[in-house]
Amino acid sequence: MLNSAKWIAYPGDTRYDCPLFEKQFSAKGEIKKATVTITSLGCYYAELNGRRIGKFVMAPGFTMRGRVQCQTYDVTDCIDAENTVNVYLSEGWFKGKINFLEGRQFAERTKCIIAELTLTYKDGTTETVVTDESWQVKKSKSSMVDIYDGEHYDANFEDSFVPVAVLDYDKSILVPQQGVDVIEHETVRPIEIIKTPAGETVIDFGQEVTGYFTLTVDAKKGDLVHLEFGEVLDKHGNFYRENYRTAKAEFKYVCRDGVQTHKPKLTFWGYRYIRVNAFPGELTLDSIHAIVVHSDIKRTGYLDSSNPMLNRLFKNIIWGQKGNFLDIPTDCPQRDERMGWTGDAQVFCRTASYNFDVEQFFAKWLTDVWMEQKEIGFVPHIIPQVWGTDSPSAAWADAATICPWQIYLTYGNKKILKDQFASMCGHVDSIGRITKRPSLWYGCGHFGDWLGLDAPAGSYKGSSNEDFIASVFYAYSTLLVVKAGRVLGRNVTKYENLYNRIVAKIRKTFKKYKTQTECVLALYFDIATDKAAVAKQLADMIEANGKRLKTGFVGTPYLLHALSQNGYTELAYDLLLQDQFPSWLYSVKCGATTIWEHWDGRNEEGEFWSRDMNSFNHYAYGSVADWVYGVACGIQTVEEQPGFAAIRIAPQPTDKLDHLSASIETRHGLVSSRWYHENGKVRYEITTPVKSTVVIDGKEFEVEAGSYLF
Ligand code: BGC
Repeated sequence: MLNSAKWIAYPGDTRYDCPLFEKQFSAKGEIKKATVTITSLGCYYAELNGRRIGKFVMAPGFTMRGRVQCQTYDVTDCIDAENTVNVYLSEGWFKGKINFLEGRQFAERTKCIIAELTLTYKDGTTETVVTDESWQVKKSKSSMVDIYDGEHYDANFEDSFVPVAVLDYDKSILVPQQGVDVIEHETVRPIEIIKTPAGETVIDFGQEVTGYFTLTVDAKKGDLVHLEFGEVLDKHGNFYRENYRTAKAEFKYVCRDGVQTHKPKLTFWGYRYIRVNAFPGELTLDSIHAIVVHSDIKRTGYLDSSNPMLNRLFKNIIWGQKGNFLDIPTDCPQRDERMGWTGDAQVFCRTASYNFDVEQFFAKWLTDVWMEQKEIGFVPHIIPQVWGTDSPSAAWADAATICPWQIYLTYGNKKILKDQFASMCGHVDSIGRITKRPSLWYGCGHFGDWLGLDAPAGSYKGSSNEDFIASVFYAYSTLLVVKAGRVLGRNVTKYENLYNRIVAKIRKTFKKYKTQTECVLALYFDIATDKAAVAKQLADMIEANGKRLKTGFVGTPYLLHALSQNGYTELAYDLLLQDQFPSWLYSVKCGATTIWEHWDGRNEEGEFWSRDMNSFNHYAYGSVADWVYGVACGIQTVEEQPGFAAIRIAPQPTDKLDHLSASIETRHGLVSSRWYHENGKVRYEITTPVKSTVVIDGKEFEVEAGSYLF
């Protein structure tokens, strides 16, 4: 790709600056079509004759640095007789502060761009304009741009162009765009400008968002705008941002004379509040509007109920996904992480795939999973890997099997299994190499039931047995390899035998379950031999805890399923609708607008969990939505006919809600399931786009595509 173009850089490049490249050229005749193919090491923002090229925010996206996606845009409408191309370039993910492993690959490389413009004239001839020695470059008005730290911008700064440096970096890393473009979505107006008890001015947008903003200000040359971003106010109503840790997350802007507007181009923040440390003139609700930025994934799933708090939770789950699907699935959008944590993605994948169409989004990220895995021999904690890993962690590394399988089930496309099968097997095989006891995943060190509330004092890990968790995920991943292999027609005897050995060994080694999460895993993953007894044990534990959970990242996604599969659907509803701490609706009661990382991110006294790790926008616990789609409303995929080619619809209503509904726009059309109470009876309204089995009160009905009332 980009055969005749050259990599070009600013000769005085320093980390975190944002050079501006320029090339002028004339069109030699009437243009029929013009396209530009472009990419960069770093993130670029390109313009042709002052008009933005494409809409991709933070292009070319975040991939493992062994592959860099190239984008091709149609720019026919922007071409004139005389033309100027401009490209801004920031460190982005390439060498920004986020890249803790900066030295691992390409340590010696600087950020740079490469591009090729192809002009096709009406007379049939073509001409190309490529990046080469003829381009020039200067410092732009942004003196610092970084994903963690934000931006410093001086509207008065002017530099002079100098010739670019041409670099002979190899082009074998260039690949066509595989992911979904990140683009601007809605604009959010602030709801209030607050004077806090500490005397500070804070803008409240009423919703935690990820993105940037537009600023409009009437100022004198040299006036300063200084903004800092935060997610929450503390219990006194003061601005709080210690949980951003080392991410400065600020915006400094030196004004020129007059009314001016500005929109950052190459960074983003996760925030609900902006502290305005400096602002010339009057700050109004029109001075700053938030712009939401995320991958251009199409919304497909909707949930609605008679309970306003539950509806707010559903909304928070959607906002959590929007805020964290920014080219890769991130853990959080605000502090000094914003990384592709594999465990988080795995936990949320099923819900994510119902809420939005994420097939292409995951296909791209899973390609990087496989590439990283090939390089280091196992699945690291974070993809793309920007931070060290000594060995894989259970439930994190298992993203390699769980995500492709879920994407296959939701969308029915075997390609994801074909593309990822080697990665799936590779993950399972790597466990066999590192475990200290054969047929278990034993003695290796993991994140455990991360953030489980039964954690010993001072620990992030719940007290569930790590070797048990790991071995169960070893079994599950092996089973998924078997299932995927069967779909693909591969010989999986080795994995079938391994699966049987692992399950037998787990049963022999771990006879007792002492935590909620251990019981949940034993039930959900068919480890328990006496399910009734284990389900009762789990139910008793929850009841004894005041109908409240204690599970962390590992147990929570399966908790309600383990209950409803074993005769405790009402208790599952109790947990879903619980609003006392700890619970999903507790955060809603505290005013959450996204999903919290910790059940106790803010405790009942209003105190925050330690600032070292307390995000208010982590999607993991939003995984509860899949139980609402799949069990409460009962919309289930059928493994033998994936992608909702056939559907099983088995709603499980409760008296605790007047009505509940779910719908998913599937590859075959809209499926929806709604139930409500009427005259002492439950009515069901079901629409299916394909032949389905509807199960009402244990009775099965085979139905054709259509709408039904039961
Ligand atoms: C991240 C997570 C992640 C975890 C793993 C955290 O710092 O934000 O969500 O899964 O580390 O331990």
